[in-house]
Amino acid sequence: MSEFVGSRLPRTDAKAKVRGQALFIDDISFSGQLYAAVVRSPVARGVIEGLDSSALDELSQVKGVFTAVDIPGCNIVPVVLRDQPCLAEKEVRYCGEPVAVVAATTRDMARFAAQKVVVRCKPMEAVLDAELGMAKDAPKIYGQDNIFSKYHNQYGDVDSAFGEAAAVVQAEFHTPYQEHAYLEPQGMVAVPGATGIEIYGSMQCPFYVREGVAEVLGMKLSRVKVIQTTTGGAFGGKEDVPSLVASQAALAAWHTGRPVKLIYTREEDMVSMSKRHPGHIRYRLAADGQGKLLAAQVTYILDAGAYSTLSPVVLWRGTIHAFGSYQVPNVWLKSYAVATNKVPCGAFRGFGSPQILFAVESAMDMLAAKLGMDPAEIRRLNILKSGDFTGSGQQLESSVGIGETLEKALEKSDWNQRRRLFEQDNARQDNSCDKTKKKPKWIQKGLGISTIYYGVGLGSAGHKLSRAGAYVQLEFDSSASFAVGTTEMGQGMTTVLSQIVAQQLGIDYVNVRMDPADTSRVPDSGPTVASRATTVSGNALIDACRPIRHSLFLEGAIMLGGVAIEELEIRGQEMVFKDSRQPGIKISQVIKGCAEKKRQLSGHGWFKVPSMDWNAETGRGKAYMTYAWATNIAEVEVNTQSGEVKVIKVIAAHDVGKAINPDQVEAQIQGGTVQGAGYGTMEEILHNPAGEMQNTNFSTYIIPSSLDAPQVEPLIVESAFEQGPYGAKGFGEQPLMGVAPAITNAIYHATGVRLTTIPATPERMLAALANLNEE
Ligand code: MOS
Repeated sequence: MSEFVGSRLPRTDAKAKVRGQALFIDDISFSGQLYAAVVRSPVARGVIEGLDSSALDELSQVKGVFTAVDIPGCNIVPVVLRDQPCLAEKEVRYCGEPVAVVAATTRDMARFAAQKVVVRCKPMEAVLDAELGMAKDAPKIYGQDNIFSKYHNQYGDVDSAFGEAAAVVQAEFHTPYQEHAYLEPQGMVAVPGATGIEIYGSMQCPFYVREGVAEVLGMKLSRVKVIQTTTGGAFGGKEDVPSLVASQAALAAWHTGRPVKLIYTREEDMVSMSKRHPGHIRYRLAADGQGKLLAAQVTYILDAGAYSTLSPVVLWRGTIHAFGSYQVPNVWLKSYAVATNKVPCGAFRGFGSPQILFAVESAMDMLAAKLGMDPAEIRRLNILKSGDFTGSGQQLESSVGIGETLEKALEKSDWNQRRRLFEQDNARQDNSCDKTKKKPKWIQKGLGISTIYYGVGLGSAGHKLSRAGAYVQLEFDSSASFAVGTTEMGQGMTTVLSQIVAQQLGIDYVNVRMDPADTSRVPDSGPTVASRATTVSGNALIDACRPIRHSLFLEGAIMLGGVAIEELEIRGQEMVFKDSRQPGIKISQVIKGCAEKKRQLSGHGWFKVPSMDWNAETGRGKAYMTYAWATNIAEVEVNTQSGEVKVIKVIAAHDVGKAINPDQVEAQIQGGTVQGAGYGTMEEILHNPAGEMQNTNFSTYIIPSSLDAPQVEPLIVESAFEQGPYGAKGFGEQPLMGVAPAITNAIYHATGVRLTTIPATPERMLAALANLNEE
């Protein structure tokens, strides 16, 4: 193996995970450790009248019950706004909201005791629907209007454009909650010590956890040390909420002076931890007679739940993506994140864009149908190219690979031929007894498409967090360790960053090791979200390797006979002449030479994302440093008798700038596509009229199993992003985002049913088919 970047190398963490050697938080214990459990609100909204914990008086194993009044610092877990308490104090705002923490000597006792504590509440009228929450006469649960945040974007002359259009479509779209369904539930251990407190646990964002714990305990940041343990899935669900879990464990540890472990049960995790926001979108889209887009008018409403958490930025991302990957000259948009008395929603792979892209991609399909155009053709005509402006007013400079993803996916799917074939097959009514036919007549087949994009990184709204640090240490035996401030949560970051370090230093990839994220090791690098880790930590690592490479080149130039360092480069594991005019030298020898002369073989790196100019007043400007792009083509079979939708195959073409590890890119596409198919066809959370969640475990909240998973065909497009490491740009979230509309567009192709609400459950399909037959 000569080059490491761009190679299909095995994951660095695969063996330990497969063999059960990886240590998750519940595998780790400390001497003298107690266990905690959380007491939760029984109602969606109410005034707390008191807490009765007298049942615990006889239980010697219980070491304490802690409420808001026991918080030494500030009862706030800060995210964007400062509205969420660690423990509810006067009022509860959703079913399952934490009210108290119980510590006991065993886990069972802690959980038993938490059940025995009675929260006495006077229930109040709750807001359970975002649309109703916006009404003038709704109970006020946040500010004067129940709106956490809102945006607008108006450009051009939408009214004239709609007036002159040859075709206009409009619809209301509804998208469901989605649960992350990470296999490992939330968990933390807090260990108090003489100089402060250490937190270990499952998380995406150690620096958020540090901030949350410091706030609640009233400590300086440097007194709180946070170390991430192997994290068993996250998908956005371990972005902000672990701060809540950690501060609950920390509170109990601070009072008892003992290590405290807090692991959520699946049910409490489902009830109280963040979800994808349900979305309600009104979308109007206009085109001229040729299919060229003229205008879009959008109202985008997110059901944010009881606290604002990440909703302002989730809504912002969705708002920026509201016109899809197309040129739309005239736009009108208003968007709102609305408070309701339900679980606070937050980050989930795609972060506010899957909802709106479902609307955009459905509307594009409706427009094609209205104009009698092929759905791929109308996309080809309108997709963005270098130099074009997005609907949010950002001029695209380079790395715009949408066209290439579209053509690759169309070719791979044999789009035209296969569409015709399905149409002929579906139209045939007399084939039920035809032995030569493979399918009975009630099975209808369809092929649907979506073309989408994703702003890489935190973007303008999160710019104050947009930096990253790194540390690299090269040893005399040609091995290296490194640390970054972003985390591995299963997405493969460790692997691709190890490849980058190996490539930079010319050492074997298997000898590069990443240390777990530790807030005392590298400076605050912002959160591991927004598909940013490869780009920002990759760049920080390249920066950290600079002084080491300088040493290597100085030494190599001497060893090669006193040549100029400009003549040399690292290729694989050798230092060679750029023009190959004479043989090079093994890097391992150069490293030994450096070590003998005590040259610097370690380095700190830093990367700061260049600033952007998106303007909140106008809703326009440069929102993201760059975009990733994707085309999905889904093939479905609809059983018109049972309503079942089977997703047979998804062709998923993604522009990732540069695939540092093509295996890992394909793995991301595989996983995200299945998750997107779940979003489109089966996943939803139901509440009863009292606002209690009804499906709180995996027997009732249904996600795709291996038997439901479609065949996924990943296709990689590399339209280099010059400021990214080796041209790479993040895309980890994108595989989920365009799948649901590709599926519902395929359902339309198969049956003529246009689903404006997902998931496409059998019940929903049957009702829609019945409607269609009535028309
Ligand atoms: Mo991610 S959904 O930006 O944690």
